[in-house]
Amino acid sequence: MAARIVDLEAVPTDGTLLFTVGHDGEEREAILTRLTDGSVVAWRNYCQHWTDVRLDTCDGAPMRGSEITCRRHAATFDRESGECTFGPCEGASLNEVGVTVHDGAVYRRNRPSTSGSYGNQRFP
Ligand code: FES
Repeated sequence: MAARIVDLEAVPTDGTLLFTVGHDGEEREAILTRLTDGSVVAWRNYCQHWTDVRLDTCDGAPMRGSEITCRRHAATFDRESGECTFGPCEGASLNEVGVTVHDGAVYRRNRPSTSGSYGNQRFP
């Protein structure tokens, strides 16, 4: 059975909500955001420029319009596709965390990540 994360109504449409997921026996941070069509996407909470930099530091990731912004060097990520549209890691993608919505709640979906073209590389 999929793990329940949070009520759908708690997921912001103008920001992100931090949560944790188990990965290879470790807890990792991820962020949820709700799109204009009501769907929900989740990304690992790490910039693709320096992957030790968190996008959401517990108070919601900064947003610029519909894009998630990194506080460190201002890279922006399309919150629907996860693609970096501006900044030192332009063209890279955030790592997706599979989630699904059912009966007014968001659940973790058990499937491998499908994005993250730059993996754990660290860019200069
Ligand atoms: S660490 Fe995020 S843009 Fe540099």
